[in-house]
Amino acid sequence: MPETDVDRRHLLRIAGGAAAGATLGAAVGEPAGASSRVPVVALDDLRPLEPVQFDHPEGAPAVLIDLGRPVEGGVGPNRSILAVSTLCQHMGCPVNFDPASLEFVCHCHGSRYALERGGMAVEGAATRGLPRIALVIEKGQIFATGVAEGVVYGFACHS
Ligand code: FES
Repeated sequence: MPETDVDRRHLLRIAGGAAAGATLGAAVGEPAGASSRVPVVALDDLRPLEPVQFDHPEGAPAVLIDLGRPVEGGVGPNRSILAVSTLCQHMGCPVNFDPASLEFVCHCHGSRYALERGGMAVEGAATRGLPRIALVIEKGQIFATGVAEGVVYGFACHS
């Protein structure tokens, strides 16, 4: 076998491994960029119990909600606004907000998270609460600035 064929196969294996590594890195998640600051919604556009979806860190779904009454860790004029990652802490399935119970529900294995308790896991397979996203309000605009508490499923760390 000519040496060039072996070299080509070797290079293809290396390229395949690199591509797989890049894919795995994306699936596992990369650390969020330093000092990320994501505009989420204007304070005036927010309505009680109407979730606003955004990504934080990039590629990780999160939801901001105004509960309409004070909540632990809440921000805003009534300390009623908070945001959490919506990737289940058990195995990373998306969770959905149930306005009737004020809980996030995972339909993969039944975990439930109480929004009024800051996203604490209250039922099911998950043992950790939903990570809380840090929020700041400037000039009537709400920004996500990082992960205040917890680790977003599949993301190694946050800034
Ligand atoms: S992934 Fe949500 S309960 Fe298992």
